[in-house]
Amino acid sequence: MTTTAKKKSRKSATKTPPKISVVPDVAATATTNASLIARREAAVARGVASAAPIFARYAENALLWDVEGNRFVDFAGGIAVLNTGHRHPKVIAAAKAQEDHYTHTSFQVVPYEPYIALAEKLNALAPGDHTKKSLLVTTGAEAVENAVKIARAATGRPGVIAFTGGYHGRTLLTLGMTGKISPYKKDVGPFPSDIFRAPFPSVRDGITVQDALTGLQNLFLTDAQPERIAAIIIEPVLGEGGYTPVPFEMMQALRDICDTHGIMLIADEIQAGFGRTGTWFAIEHSGVVPDLITVAKSMAGGYPIAGVIGRAEVMDSVIPGGLGGTYGGNPVACAAALAAIEAIEEEGLLARSTALGETFRARFAEIGARVAPYRMWDIRGLGAMLAVEFVTDFETAKPDPDLTKAVVAHALQRGLILLACGMHGNALRIMVPLTASDAIIDEGLTIFEEALAAAVADQQS
Ligand SMILES: Cc1ncc(COP(=O)(O)O)c(C=O)c1O
Repeated sequence: MTTTAKKKSRKSATKTPPKISVVPDVAATATTNASLIARREAAVARGVASAAPIFARYAENALLWDVEGNRFVDFAGGIAVLNTGHRHPKVIAAAKAQEDHYTHTSFQVVPYEPYIALAEKLNALAPGDHTKKSLLVTTGAEAVENAVKIARAATGRPGVIAFTGGYHGRTLLTLGMTGKISPYKKDVGPFPSDIFRAPFPSVRDGITVQDALTGLQNLFLTDAQPERIAAIIIEPVLGEGGYTPVPFEMMQALRDICDTHGIMLIADEIQAGFGRTGTWFAIEHSGVVPDLITVAKSMAGGYPIAGVIGRAEVMDSVIPGGLGGTYGGNPVACAAALAAIEAIEEEGLLARSTALGETFRARFAEIGARVAPYRMWDIRGLGAMLAVEFVTDFETAKPDPDLTKAVVAHALQRGLILLACGMHGNALRIMVPLTASDAIIDEGLTIFEEALAAAVADQQS
C-alpha cells in the first residue's frame, strides 16, 4: 500500500464508526504485513496460497482492516462465505449464546437441537415439494464427497459425471471431479476411478448447449455406461470456473437425462447458494428440482459448516453410521447458520442481491467502455454472483490474465480486495456482502475503476 493510500485509509478508518458494540482497535500495530509474510513463509506450507499480501486484524460487514491499520472494502467475502457480511451482529450473538451452553458433543454421541433445527430449515428452503432430509458436515468438499456416497448407495452404481471448468473441492474424490489441473490437481494424482467429464457450454470455446449435450451423449456411448452412473454433478453457476451460469435449457435437459437413466442430479450450490444469485439456490432460476444439493459457505456467515439436502428416501439409503464425522454439524456453526439464514430473510437479501447485480452490471459496462475499451469482453452471472472477463482485444478475445492480476494488485493498493477466477484466470468475480451499503459498493466500484485505468496504463507504458 502506498503512503498516501495508507494515510487516506487510516483517516477513513476513524471516520467509519463500527455498528458492533466492540470498538475496533484498528490502529497500526507493531506487527507488519512484511514481518508476517516472512513468518508465514517459514512456518506454513507453500501449497496454501493467499491472494492478498496483507493480514487481517478486524472486519465488519464489507470492510476489513489489516494489521497495519489499512482499511479495505471487501469484494471477496472470504470466497463467497459472507453474503451476510463479516461478523453479522445476529450471527455473532447466536454463536456466543451457543458457546455459553456447549460447543461440542459430537452429534453421533450426544445429539442436540440446533442440528435438527438447521436440517428442518434447509429441508424447507430447498426447491421441490417432496419430503427432504439433510446431513451436516464441516467443509464443502466433505459435502460433495457425501453427496456422491449417498448417490452411490441410492443407485447401487459407481459412476459420477462432472463438467469441464467445474470445481468441487480439493480432497481426492472431489479433485477427481474438479476440472482444472493447475494449481488444484498438479502432481497430486492419481484420482479415483469412475469419474467422467462432460463438456460445459462455452461461448468462448464455441460450445453450444446442443454441443455440450451431444458430448454427454457421446460419453454415454464411449466411456460412461449410463446404467453404471450414480450421479451427474453440476454447479448451477460455475464458481472457480468463471461465474458462468448453466443455460436453463441445459439444466432442464440434464434433469430429463437423469430421469431417463435413473441418475441422481446433484446441484453443487456451495458457492452459488444462500442468496448470492437472488434466490436461495441458483438452480431455482431454471425451475429444475435436483435430487441432492450440496451447501456450505454463506449458509453460516463465516462459520465452518456444510451439508447435503436431498430427497428423504435417497438420503436414507446410507445405513446408520455410514455418514457423519466427529465435528459434522458443530452446534456453534449450526446456531450461526440459523441466524445467518434468518438475517437473509429479515433483511430482504435475496432482493438486495438482484438489485446489486443490476448495479454492478450497469457500472461495469460503463466503466469498461470508458476506461478499458475492448478489454472487458464479458459481464456475466446471476444476481450479485457476477464476473467480468478481460481479454487482450475483442477481435481475438484472447484471455488476459496479466491485466486481471494487475487490476487486483492496483485495487489492493487503493483499498479494495478482489479475487480472480476462470479457467484462464482472466475473470474478476464479485462476492461482496449483500449487506454492504450503497456507499461502500460505490466506493469499491470507484476503486475498481481507478485500478483498471492504472492496469491498462501499465500495459500501454
Ligand atoms: C462449488 C464448490 N464446491 C465445492 C467447494 C469446496 O468447498 P470447501 O473449500 O469448503 O471444501 C467449493 C469451494 O470453493 C465450491 O465453490
